Amino acid sequence: MRLLFALLALAAARPLARAESHWCYEIQAKASNYTCLGPNKWGEFCQNNHQSPINIVTSKAQFDHSLRPFSFSGYDKKHKWTVQNNGHSVMVLLGDEARIAGGGLATYYQAKQLHLHWSEVLDQGSEHSLDGARFAMEMHIVHEKGDRTSRSKKEAQDPKDEIAVLAFLVKAGSENEGFQPLVEALADIPKPDMSTTMKKNISLLDLLPKGEKLSHYFRYLGSLTTPGCDENVIWTVFKEPIQLHKDQVLAFSQKLYYDKEQKLKMTDNVRPLQPQNDRQVFKSQAPEPPLPLALPALLAPMLSLMAGLLH
Ligand SMILES: *[C@@H]1O[C@H](CO)[C@@H](O)[C@H](O)[C@H]1NC(C)=O
Ligand SMILES: *[C@@H]1O[C@H](CO)[C@@H](O)[C@H](O)[C@H]1NC(C)=O
Ligand SMILES: [Zn+2]
Repeated sequence: MRLLFALLALAAARPLARAESHWCYEIQAKASNYTCLGPNKWGEFCQNNHQSPINIVTSKAQFDHSLRPFSFSGYDKKHKWTVQNNGHSVMVLLGDEARIAGGGLATYYQAKQLHLHWSEVLDQGSEHSLDGARFAMEMHIVHEKGDRTSRSKKEAQDPKDEIAVLAFLVKAGSENEGFQPLVEALADIPKPDMSTTMKKNISLLDLLPKGEKLSHYFRYLGSLTTPGCDENVIWTVFKEPIQLHKDQVLAFSQKLYYDKEQKLKMTDNVRPLQPQNDRQVFKSQAPEPPLPLALPALLAPMLSLMAGLLH
C-alpha cells in the first residue's frame, strides 16, 4: 500500500516537475490556456517572503548615510554589444569589463548582463513602483559579487547580497539617442534564442541618466524577479527615470515575440508586486538643501540672535 502511494505520488509529481521549467508571465499563461506556469504558480523560492519587486513608499524610506554615490568603472567603454532574445526579455551580454563599487556595497560587483521589462501600456511596464506609480519600462543591470574571499563562512552559506541589481525606471518622453542602437537591434531578434550585435558602439553610461542624478536611489534586500526567485539580491532603484521616446518603448513590444511561431508579442514581462513584509527600504543621503531653502533656515536663528542682542 505504502509503495503504491509512493508510486502514485511519483507519477503525479513528474509532469509537475516538467512544467516547473515552463514558467511564464501572466499574459502567456492566459494565451496558452494556463499550460505554462504563471507568476502565482512559480516554484523554488518564489513563494517566500523577501521577494521582489515591491512598491516603494518614498516617505517611509529611511535615510542611510552610508548610501554614498557609486563608482562606475568600465561603464564608459564603448562596444557593439551582443543582444539576445531569451524568451522572457531582451538581454545585453556585458562581458567582464564593467564593475561598480561604493553605493553602500560591501565590495565591488561585476556587471554580467542587462535586460528590460516593459508593457504596451506606458504606466504598466515597470516591476517596481514608486508610491504606487508604475512606469513604461524597467532596466536591470545585473552584477555578481566580485570579492568572494572576503566573506565569513556563515555569510558564505547564506549570502543575501550575492547579486547587485541596478534598477532604472523608464518613462516615455524625449527621444534617447543612447538607446537607439539597442532599439534598432530588436528587429534582428524577433524569436527566442536569436542574437545579434549592435550596429553602433555604445557604453553603459550612454544608457543611464547623467552624473549627479545617479546619487539618489533606494536600497532594499530582495530576490530575482524570475524563477527561482533566489533571495540574494541587493537592490538599488534609482529615483531619476531614464527617458525614451514612446516609439522607442513600443518597439520592444512590436519587434519581439515570446514564441518561435511569433504568435504572442513579448510584452507585459513584468512580475506582480510582492509584499514588503518585515523589510525596511533605505534611501541615499539627503541632498544639501538648495540655497533659497537654506537661507531662511540660517537667517531665522541669526535674526533672533540679533533681536536678543538689541534687547
Ligand atoms: C483555450 O480554451 C478555449 C476554450 O476552451 C479554446 O476556445 C481555445 O482555442 C484554447 N486556446 C488555446 C491556445 O489552446
Ligand atoms: C567598438 O566596438 C568594438 C566591438 O565591441 C570594439 O572592438 C571597438 O574597440 C569599439 N570601438 C570604439 C571606438 O570604441
Ligand atoms: Zn529583471
